[in-house]
Amino acid sequence: MGTPSDADERRRLAGLGLPEQPSMTRVFDYLLGGTSHFELDRRFVEDVEPVLPNIAGHIQVIHAFLSRAVRYLAECGIDQFLDLGTGLPTVGDVHGTAQRVDPTARIAYVDADPFTVRLAEAQLRGVRGVTVTEADLCEPASVLTAPGVAGLLDFTRPVAVLAMAALPFITDDDELAGVVAAYRDACSVGSALVCSHLSMVTATADQVRRFGDVAEQIGSRPIWRSPDDFRTVFNGYELAEPGLLRTALWRPELGEPTGRQHDALEMDTLSAVGMLVSRPVPTALRLVGR
Ligand SMILES: C[S@@+](CC[C@H](N)C(=O)[O-])C[C@H]1O[C@@H](n2cnc3c(N)ncnc32)[C@H](O)[C@@H]1O
Repeated sequence: MGTPSDADERRRLAGLGLPEQPSMTRVFDYLLGGTSHFELDRRFVEDVEPVLPNIAGHIQVIHAFLSRAVRYLAECGIDQFLDLGTGLPTVGDVHGTAQRVDPTARIAYVDADPFTVRLAEAQLRGVRGVTVTEADLCEPASVLTAPGVAGLLDFTRPVAVLAMAALPFITDDDELAGVVAAYRDACSVGSALVCSHLSMVTATADQVRRFGDVAEQIGSRPIWRSPDDFRTVFNGYELAEPGLLRTALWRPELGEPTGRQHDALEMDTLSAVGMLVSRPVPTALRLVGR
């Protein structure tokens, strides 16, 4: 994939200056062993590791799930992926995983952060079947009509929508429900939704606070949702086996061994894959039919 100095080369290619602040997505990249981060991101990790000693394991478990879910869906025959809040494609990325199963798979990456998008574009230059779009995932109409999305993906065929570690930044539950419903309604039967979310299963209030304080320094403070609230994200979908559960426990046999047990993690995330097996009746029609 390259060396850390490639990040500077990509930055120059993209016409970007040196970043002034560490960013969440480059910190993720560093913790995953990627090559799109800078000295200030690495220093940030050194500073926070005493506060969040298991942070690298936490991120690795989420990404290992992403790879397993993408592989699962690609092996089910899905060859189109819409990744919302991508960050930087890094180790175990969506296009690498999907195109290993089907070299013709197409992947539309979407992120709201301009620096991240420019860096990702430079990193992905020349990679076939992949686009990067700067857009706010909370504006589904803009995302779905953006040239990088509408010009690459055919929504009359199944599309896997991925929202990995991005939904905790939508803090309003009603907004979240509207956003996920809009993507679901744009998709045809046979499509899928892949999500992970911070959820308080065993994490203590102190751990949640520390995690939030760190996240706020490099982006924004995420919110934690109960398992029941997270489950509502999959309204209209049927959950693929084994359902919604702690991230490390979702079909571990599909991935590389992570070397980490879920109960060794400081932070909890829950994950699931939903399959759109039928078209939900739009709310307005349900009311008319009463
Ligand atoms: C915690 S990172 C997760 C990145 C990646 N999905 C992963 O799992 O490693 C969250 C990403 O979501 C992006 N993001 C947050 N809010 C967003 C929004 N409203 N629209 C698009 N991207 C957003 C951030 O810029 C960041 O790159």
